[in-house]
Amino acid sequence: MPRQLFVTTALPYANAPFHVGHMMEYIQADIWVRFQRMQGHEVHFVCADDAHGAPIMIAAEKAGKTPQQFVADIAAGRKAYLDGFHIGFDNWHSTDGPENHQLAQDTYRALRKTGLIFTRPVEQFFDPVKQMFLPDRYVKGECPKCGAKDQYGDNCEVCGAVYAPTELKNPYSTLTGATPVMKTSEHHFFQLSSQRCIDFLQEWTQTPGRLQPEVLNKIKEWFVTDEQGHGGLADWDISRDAPYFGIEIPDAPGKYFYVWLDAPIGYLASLKNYFGKIGKDFDAFMADPKTEQAHFIGKDIVYFHTLFWPAMLHFSGRKVPDHVFVHGFITVSGEKMSKSRGTGISPLKYLELGMNAEWLRYYIAAKLNGKVEDVDFNPDDFVARVNSDLVGKYVNIASRAAGFIAKRFGGRLATSRSAEAASLLQALQAARDGIAQLYDDREYGKALREIMALADRVNGYVDTHKPWDLAKQAGQDTPLQEVCSTCIEAFRLLTIYLKPVLPALAAQVEGFLRIEPLRFADADRLLGAHDIGSYQHLMQRVDPKQLDALFEPPAVETPKPGGEDLAPTITIDDFAKVDLRLARIVDAKRVEGSTKLLQLTLDVGEGRTRNVFSGIQSAFAPEDLVGKFTVMVANLAPRKMKFGLSEGMVLAASHADEKSQPGLYLLEPTPGAVPGLRVR
Ligand code: 2FM
Ligand code: ZN
Repeated sequence: MPRQLFVTTALPYANAPFHVGHMMEYIQADIWVRFQRMQGHEVHFVCADDAHGAPIMIAAEKAGKTPQQFVADIAAGRKAYLDGFHIGFDNWHSTDGPENHQLAQDTYRALRKTGLIFTRPVEQFFDPVKQMFLPDRYVKGECPKCGAKDQYGDNCEVCGAVYAPTELKNPYSTLTGATPVMKTSEHHFFQLSSQRCIDFLQEWTQTPGRLQPEVLNKIKEWFVTDEQGHGGLADWDISRDAPYFGIEIPDAPGKYFYVWLDAPIGYLASLKNYFGKIGKDFDAFMADPKTEQAHFIGKDIVYFHTLFWPAMLHFSGRKVPDHVFVHGFITVSGEKMSKSRGTGISPLKYLELGMNAEWLRYYIAAKLNGKVEDVDFNPDDFVARVNSDLVGKYVNIASRAAGFIAKRFGGRLATSRSAEAASLLQALQAARDGIAQLYDDREYGKALREIMALADRVNGYVDTHKPWDLAKQAGQDTPLQEVCSTCIEAFRLLTIYLKPVLPALAAQVEGFLRIEPLRFADADRLLGAHDIGSYQHLMQRVDPKQLDALFEPPAVETPKPGGEDLAPTITIDDFAKVDLRLARIVDAKRVEGSTKLLQLTLDVGEGRTRNVFSGIQSAFAPEDLVGKFTVMVANLAPRKMKFGLSEGMVLAASHADEKSQPGLYLLEPTPGAVPGLRVR
């Protein structure tokens, strides 16, 4: 019976490009999806940008964009990563799309009908300057325990104390620096603590096959209440006050859904948007009991996906998720990654260096299992696994055999073979169901180990029969063709098993073997009398230098203000020696015989005027300067010039290289200034 699958990965926040953590999740899900398709199942695999929330609204404002534009700009960068790493989402959408607005509001209305929505006033910090409620992360202050300055609203990084933002001493808004005030507003809640929800979630979470055992154990803790009635499931605050970038709550002006309410609904919205494009009935598909809904997520967002999300779906009368597949984090050489900065590996840099995306897919797959364990990217291990296993064991089989078949036998494979060869191929075929089960269980590491063990056996066979020796001996054509054909048959079987991980390589193999796209069922039979094409080199080895380049920190150019190095540091006393004064330009004339100089008559409030020659002719017409103010160095030693005495120097701003970037800018005071004021 073909399965009917709806698969998602977590929707990434639309405030930053992908980091390697995203790529790991997408690779994990993509392998699973490709595997299911190779089993003949129907799979719809979608994702979207998680567009809403205060951080994105604030980031957009800082970037001088509307949130919509900001999110669209981030979305425009997604394709390079997804295509680059062969992530085959059927659709990429946004939680700000019309489908999501509609679905989120419908869901809310349905929940309200069941009586699970209530409102109550919530007192919260409010930024009086920005006129907005402050999420905890935007409030800082002094730790109430140890007094450390600039600590976040929930815990102190110095002494480790945990507290409420309202306990901070001298709190301030990180957005404006203003002292926040306490303000009350009506919030909407989802009654997760209700017995109805608890009963449903107990049943949903404990349904066998739905969650990994370690995830279920964690969830069980969340249900527990102590003797004082503390702990247990708490009601969920699902509203935020304007200004907020989000979806409006029906019948509640100025209130928006908290981003985490509409984000998972974005899974449905992306599917609906996709079905709209391909002309498939979304409601019918979601109502079909055959449909299996699977979400791949990281361990940090389990609460949302195993409590809020199934409860929201169930009580709004929708289908509930069938599987939530949780993975750990990726570390790089043992170092934890930061959610905002990612790790030392930039996925885009990886591709730009010409590194093969399938090396990373293979390496990550080799490290993944069905548990919630962290995965470490280790550069030496990466080189070893790709070069010795992937290329050394698997690719090598084809490169050792295909050339002889093409050159010596016109591309024709032999059908007869020794009992040894036949039993080798049978063993490879027999491994199919075990490997398929491992893929289905997301035990990719085990699957690859098994596939590599099969490759070892094939290489053992090659080493025993040495086709390169047979090729040199007269009268050995038949054994040569048989050995090489067995290798090609074996290589095709291994390619079936590796195809979920290496889709591009498998496509190349299908091209050179001249066969239809491989499915798992194709392991049932051998190619037999079949003509293959000529072997094209399939995959390069990793050059360890590439990894050095990947980890090399980007050459940080110390930013030079205005493109020019700062002058050496001076003391305040050095600066005080320079007497800068406001000067009014009383008169300005061109200087006969000079293309650079203007002769300025300046009033510096001394009861007399000064004569100054200034090299600003290229930028100013003399008549435009008369009456303007500027700044001059008033205590510069007078200088005798060809055209007369210059009694000071006028200041102007310019580029470092005036030739390539001409332009001079005088410094003018704000209104009300009078000649002679000192600039200090
Ligand atoms: O943690 C995150 O990155 C969230 N943007 C994940 C959302 S998943 C789903 F609910 F949309
Ligand atoms: Zn402290």
